[in-house]
Amino acid sequence: MEIILTSIALSICAIFLGICAWRFLNWLWLKPKKLEKYLRQQGLNGNSYKLFFGDLKEGYMISKEAKSKPMNFSHDITHRVSPLLHKTFTKYGKIAFTWFGPRPVVLINDAEMVKDIFSKPYIFVKPENYHTIKQLIKGLATANKDIWSRHRKTINPAFHLEKLMIMVPIFYSCCYDMVSKWEKIVTENGSYELDLWPNLEILTSNALSKAAFGSNYEEGKKIFDLQMELSELVMKSFPLPGASLLPTKTNRRVKEIAKEVRSSIQGIINKRLNAMEGENAGISYDDLLGVLLESNSRQIKEGVNKNLGMSMEEVIEECEFFYFAGHESTSVLIMWALILLSKHLDWQERARQEVLQVLGGEKPNFDDLSRLKIVSFPSLNFGVKLSS
Ligand code: HEM
Repeated sequence: MEIILTSIALSICAIFLGICAWRFLNWLWLKPKKLEKYLRQQGLNGNSYKLFFGDLKEGYMISKEAKSKPMNFSHDITHRVSPLLHKTFTKYGKIAFTWFGPRPVVLINDAEMVKDIFSKPYIFVKPENYHTIKQLIKGLATANKDIWSRHRKTINPAFHLEKLMIMVPIFYSCCYDMVSKWEKIVTENGSYELDLWPNLEILTSNALSKAAFGSNYEEGKKIFDLQMELSELVMKSFPLPGASLLPTKTNRRVKEIAKEVRSSIQGIINKRLNAMEGENAGISYDDLLGVLLESNSRQIKEGVNKNLGMSMEEVIEECEFFYFAGHESTSVLIMWALILLSKHLDWQERARQEVLQVLGGEKPNFDDLSRLKIVSFPSLNFGVKLSS
């Protein structure tokens, strides 16, 4: 009897180990090779799959090499910023694939096709099972199909033109404070070498905190700093399935940060909800958070039993994403614009003359901004159109 039980136990162990070994082999080799075959059959080209690392090792090496060389400040920066993408596109054309570990990633360097893809959210869905990435990027950026559509419906009013127009004075006052600080430094010191990057980070976090959340710079800065630390940890982590669930020091810190960000944002939302229900009841808030909360409660009222609107958990996630999406993207864009203007003095002069001519030294309003042709907004042509 004992022998029979032992044999059954051993057989179960053997089957279990066999299944694990098969799944591991499938994840590590068979599935990537099968996917590679499908991609090639569809006419896409890319490097052949390399065991476990895919193109990660090569990407790391060429990125290190590219960054060791002095930067050439021209528009042609892809080979430095993202050397693996640059190499893949040069070698394999506008639509190619690369390997993120055992996972193939299709790369598209064709603006029209990217627009087409963004306009078909029910066909081109985002990956759903990346636990680590989801700790960093939440809300709309990871939502799919009906959830995406429900969230977008609620969020859209926050990005309507008339709401954005109201934000112009806030952006102006944040820029004015920063430039006044620079002028003061230069007046006191004569010529002065200033590192613009930290200043621009303060500018954008200040502007976003005020315009989007009606909160102060300190509150916003805490969230941005945590999110920056989180993105560094997430970027460094290896794409092994389940790796983000292991109790490592990094994973514990990732969880800690995620909890802290969430609780800070919940604090900002609660403060606002209390104000909306208490001393400021009836007052409508025009910042992104106010419009979002108002639109959400309208959706919930209109859609009883229709599953409209968002839960509080979802509202928090969307706010986390606004902080994440709106901060570094904007400071990097301004930094790059300033670098190019400092390299191309003729364009700098044309831009200055246009601003002086259109604004005549006055504070800008939204209509003025649309009259600026040289100082225009490339990001608005970038394909991200949020208002319906
Ligand atoms: C120069 C600045 C910015 C750039 C270059 C930029 C770029 C992008 C890109 C490429 C996407 C599409 C991502 C994807 O679906 O994979 C996106 C989505 C998004 N961005 Fe931005 N963004 C900028 C600023 C902002 C700001 C200031 C906010 C708001 C505070 C914002 C909020 C969003 C939202 C909510 C989405 C998700 C849209 C959706 O999936 O329906 N972005 N952005």
